[in-house]
Amino acid sequence: MILEVRDIRSFYGETEVLFGVSLEVDAGEVVALLGPNGAGKTSTLRSILNLTEVKRGEIRFDGKNITRAATHTIARAGIAWVPDDRRIFPTLTVERNLSIAKKTTRFRAWSERECFELFSALEYLRQRECEDLSGGEMQMVAISRALVGAPGLVLLDEPSQGLAPKIVHDVLRTIGRLKSEGVAVLLVEQNPLAALSAADRVYVMDKGRIVHHGAARGLLENSAMRTRLLGV
Ligand SMILES: Nc1ncnc2c1ncn2[C@@H]1O[C@H](COP(=O)(O)OP(=O)(O)OP(=O)(O)O)[C@@H](O)[C@H]1O
Ligand SMILES: [Mg+2]
Repeated sequence: MILEVRDIRSFYGETEVLFGVSLEVDAGEVVALLGPNGAGKTSTLRSILNLTEVKRGEIRFDGKNITRAATHTIARAGIAWVPDDRRIFPTLTVERNLSIAKKTTRFRAWSERECFELFSALEYLRQRECEDLSGGEMQMVAISRALVGAPGLVLLDEPSQGLAPKIVHDVLRTIGRLKSEGVAVLLVEQNPLAALSAADRVYVMDKGRIVHHGAARGLLENSAMRTRLLGV
């Protein structure tokens, strides 16, 4: 397993938000993390990055204990984050946003050329300042920025949020490409059917706990269980 999260308890100040969460992601595996608003999905990603305080439990990545390691150390180990608000630099061009995100890890860095092959729309926008991009184009920049940083694992927080169906399709296709390159993906989604069709395995959270885990296809095909767990 490239990522092992063991029984973590995480807090915002005195308030506990994760009550013993465990999950695993294998190299080249796409794992969906689903659940209602406030379930703790974003907090789980933030805990992996040591942006939310983990008081108990252990997080291992690529054979190393990264629990409470500095966030930049975790990034250098090969974990990339595409946050729900994207956080690209609005006044910089697409090209510049990608060039400042380049770094070396033990994993393979994607070239700008490969990112433009993945998202052909970006190539024509390379000189454009990011504040002038559409939501879908910004998401493409945010994912490309993760890839030029040589990730072994990409944490995607609601990549399809606010995007047109065609762009959602492009984003899911990217996830397929990452998988074929051996990059692991932990995918948080509000759109459970799209996430389940892209994922190998799924964890469902509720109120700071994992309430279900198993094969993504199993949940996709079991409509009674899907309705109970996800309401769809
Ligand atoms: N900065 C914060 N300070 C205090 N509590 C927070 C903070 N961020 C989130 N929480 C609380 O932590 C719990 C989990 O929130 P989290 O954002 O992880 O859920 P989520 O599953 O990502 O939800 P959503 O689908 O709405 O994004 C919620 O009860 C939320 O109110
Ligand atoms: Mg969230």
